[in-house]
Order: sequence, then structure tokens, then C-alpha cells
Amino acid sequence: NVKEEFYQNIKLVENPDDLLVLVNKNNQLTSSYIPKNLESISLKYANSDKYLQKEAKEAFEKLSDDANNLGYRIVAISAYRDYNYQNELFNYYVKEKGLEYALNCSAKPGHSEHQTGLAVDVEGENKDYDQFESTKEFDWIKDNAHKYGFILRYPKGKEHITGFKYEPWHYRYVGIDAAQYIYENNITLEEYLQM
Ligand code: DAL
Ligand code: ZN
Repeated sequence: NVKEEFYQNIKLVENPDDLLVLVNKNNQLTSSYIPKNLESISLKYANSDKYLQKEAKEAFEKLSDDANNLGYRIVAISAYRDYNYQNELFNYYVKEKGLEYALNCSAKPGHSEHQTGLAVDVEGENKDYDQFESTKEFDWIKDNAHKYGFILRYPKGKEHITGFKYEPWHYRYVGIDAAQYIYENNITLEEYLQM
């Protein structure tokens, strides 16, 4: 399955409300799908009104609280995105950077797990998500996110499986058990769900 060509043989997601839902280049949400239990992230840990599903939101605030107590600052800069916004975002990248670039960094509408309300992009103290990898916040979150149920969703070296370039800033809530397994075995959500 992971060898299928991206954006070919696309399946409609049948379990959109499942915490382990797979949304990627081959698994698409409908344009009308909106998670039922979106809640706004505390503005202490978001740069403006940002929404996640309740369970993911609570886990994210706990993660950010604990990071804060250690002297780190982890803030959500993007979380739930609806279908239309994702469409605008994808088209923006195509226009500004070209189709090939856009395909590697931005999902087409319906194919972004930001539409599930389970994914969050973060920035650290340097307030530049693109340079997040060089922050002390990244050094901490990469080895602690799983304790809160989050995984680094687009790891380095797994681009052929996830379909996206390495994104040190993008975390996906899957619950603690799955996150711990995925972290310890250094696999992707795609590989975990195939087992
Ligand atoms: N940047 C991720 C892949 C998205 O657009 O959902
Ligand atoms: Zn993201």
C-alpha cells in the first residue's frame, strides 16, 4: 500500500472520527467533513484562535505546560484547517513556488490531516517554524511528544512513505499507546496502520 503512487487510487476515508484516522495523498476526507468536538487552544499556547479536537487539545496544552515549566515555549501556529482554507493554501504554494514544490510541502484539499483537527504545527522561542529544528524546543519535543500522544508525522527519510518532505514542526495526535509504539520503532503512521 505504501508503494502506491501518490494521488492515485484515492480512497474516501471511512473512519474520519477515529483517533487513528489516516489522511494522506491516497486517503481523502470529503469536503464537508468537520470534526464534531473542536475546541480552541488556550491563547497561552496558540498565536491566535486555533482549534483541535478536545482530546488532542487537552494533550497539547499539557505538553505546552510541561515544556513551559522546563523553560521552553511551544506554541500552535496552525491546527484545524477546513477544506476551503486548505484549498487556498495549496493554490497559494502552487502560485508562489510552483506545483512540484507545493506537492512536497502542502496537501491538496481533503488530503490534509489538518482537516481532522488532530494535527498541529508549532513554533518555538525563535518564532520561526521553518527554523524550528534548530531550537531547544525541538530537542525536547522530538523525544517527549509521544508521552502526550503526539508523533512527528513527517520524519526525515520517510518521504517515500508519507509523501511529504521532513516537517519538524508538524505533530499529529494518535493517543499515547500508538504514539509510544511509533516513536520507539521509528515508524510512520502509514507503517503502524499496516501492521
Ligand atoms: N503540510 C501538511 C503536509 C499539510 O498540508 O497538511
Ligand atoms: Zn502541519
